[in-house]
Amino acid sequence: MVNQTSFYKKDLITMLNADEEDQIILFKKSKEITDSLIGNKVHLRGLIEYSNVCIKDCLYCGIQKSNKNTQRYTLSDEEVIQCALYALEHNYGSIAIQSGERTDPLFISKITHLLKGIKKLSNGKLGITLSLGEQTLETYKEWFDAGAHRYLLRIETSNRALYSKIHPNNDLHNFDKRLEALQNIRKAGFQLGTGVMIGLPHQTIGNLADDLLFLKALDVDMVGMGPYIEHFETPLFEARHLLKTPQERLDLTFKMIASLRIIMKDINIVAATALQAIDKIGREKAIRYGANILMPNITPGNFRNNYKLYQDKPCTDENANDCNTCIDARMSMIGSKIGYNEWGDSKHFTNLK
Ligand code: 5AD
Ligand code: FES
Repeated sequence: MVNQTSFYKKDLITMLNADEEDQIILFKKSKEITDSLIGNKVHLRGLIEYSNVCIKDCLYCGIQKSNKNTQRYTLSDEEVIQCALYALEHNYGSIAIQSGERTDPLFISKITHLLKGIKKLSNGKLGITLSLGEQTLETYKEWFDAGAHRYLLRIETSNRALYSKIHPNNDLHNFDKRLEALQNIRKAGFQLGTGVMIGLPHQTIGNLADDLLFLKALDVDMVGMGPYIEHFETPLFEARHLLKTPQERLDLTFKMIASLRIIMKDINIVAATALQAIDKIGREKAIRYGANILMPNITPGNFRNNYKLYQDKPCTDENANDCNTCIDARMSMIGSKIGYNEWGDSKHFTNLK
């Protein structure tokens, strides 16, 4: 079905259009590659949702600054440290700190301070991924020097026109600036991660094939991509009549993951939390089809309800413990196991070094 060495857009479109019968071949191929190059180990990044204060206005996102219904919060230093301790005590190899975007000096220095604190308390044991939006090269360098070593910034869509449609405020959002930020993340020394949303209004299969080619051309180390899920308090909710069904968006995400594994064999691929909002075992299925990273939410329970990027976000009512206890069982159900106490860096990055 697919050419092993070079992937043209038409091959990728065929893969993404695969029907139930053909997708069995796609998933089998992707599983073979995952088994031989990645193995059956899944690595954890304990997700800390640091703050839902955001200066941006992405049309699809529940915590966009124009959503006046969201109660804003920022975790205290103590709460962040407690999350890091939780990750350590539960043998997570890494944490991921995610937040709405802020670029003020106070925020930047606060993150630097927290990173240094976490490095110290874990004796350098915890790997640290950041997902804190578009920053200057100087800021990226400061955070890298403070101890973080992976950075996720989704391009959201590699199609300029679609990017403008879902980020219409040109004063705040600029496609070229986002591309520049991705280059700066790499320049600062980070393992570079990006990704897209799947099933956006107006998005075509051709756009998604281009997204895969974009990820390949950028030669990223990690990818996090998941289905778009409409949020009733956002402007993009108005375009819901254009959407594929949740099941279709889910299936398309699985095909994107499998195709990505085939064209980028040794990168880290996240089984995105948004998958779980559509299918209770969506993340497990994603792992079967090529993903190898899980990001269990370890944010204190009472804040989770306010970090709703989309509706039906899983586990928002539970505390971290409820999520953690079942991970092992869920993984063994699909023949995988957790790489406890390991950073689980992208082999793509370490191989290149
Ligand atoms: N549906 C799915 N994913 C979303 N994100 C934001 N809003 C939504 C939504 N409504 C994703 C974006 C962002 C990441 C943190 O969450 O891709 O980069
Ligand atoms: Fe916060 Fe998009 S709304 S970064």
